[in-house]
Amino acid sequence: MVGETFDNPFFARLWTVLSAHESRAMRELRRANLLDLSGRVLEVGAGTGSNFAFYPESVTEVVALEPETRLAPLATAAAAAAPVPVTLIESTIEAMPATEPFDAVVCSLVLCSVADPDAVLRQLNAVLKPGGQLRYFEHIAVPGWRGGLQRLADATIWPRFTGNCHTHRETERSIAGAGFVIDTARREAMLPTWVPLPAQEVALGRASKSVGE
Ligand SMILES: C[S@@+](CC[C@H](N)C(=O)[O-])C[C@H]1O[C@@H](n2cnc3c(N)ncnc32)[C@H](O)[C@@H]1O
Repeated sequence: MVGETFDNPFFARLWTVLSAHESRAMRELRRANLLDLSGRVLEVGAGTGSNFAFYPESVTEVVALEPETRLAPLATAAAAAAPVPVTLIESTIEAMPATEPFDAVVCSLVLCSVADPDAVLRQLNAVLKPGGQLRYFEHIAVPGWRGGLQRLADATIWPRFTGNCHTHRETERSIAGAGFVIDTARREAMLPTWVPLPAQEVALGRASKSVGE
């Protein structure tokens, strides 16, 4: 199934290489983000399908969206080898076809790239069942000189080469603003914090759809 797609050849090549050389620590963060999930799950922006191997068997179906035309076939191949059924849809979240509600939504390294994270998070809240959960593993805005580096990177070349990634986003504030209650959250570094790259810190957390949403 094909919806709205992107074609960023440089980013697709870059992400294919990076995702094929992930550290054990990075894979452990992916596993931690998916731990104890169950039922029907929506994964937004699956990339090459790096998360698929880590879904627990209690997950009955993953509907995975990937809009990059050069990444979607790699995600489809990863889906075939996954321990749980994964259906790949070549589409942005914004253009996702209407669907039954989900038990959980997974976002990993994707809320930095969508055009309007607040609107996307409201959409994700709406597709969750009451009490459904958002699992996130996302770049976050940091304070101090590294925050300044993030702002500079976001305003110049970083988004152009990284599929619109913006590193200085207050993603957890957006999550709370979209009607989620953050149940657990922690910060991790994907690289040592002295490395002068804007994207080494991530937030990993679980947030529930508020009662009454
Ligand atoms: C940095 S990659 C991360 C891929 C994957 N989530 C992972 O953890 O390896 C960001 C992904 O988000 C996808 N993406 C960007 N904008 C999107 C949107 N509006 N809807 C869905 N996916 C999007 C990109 O195509 C890309 O695959």
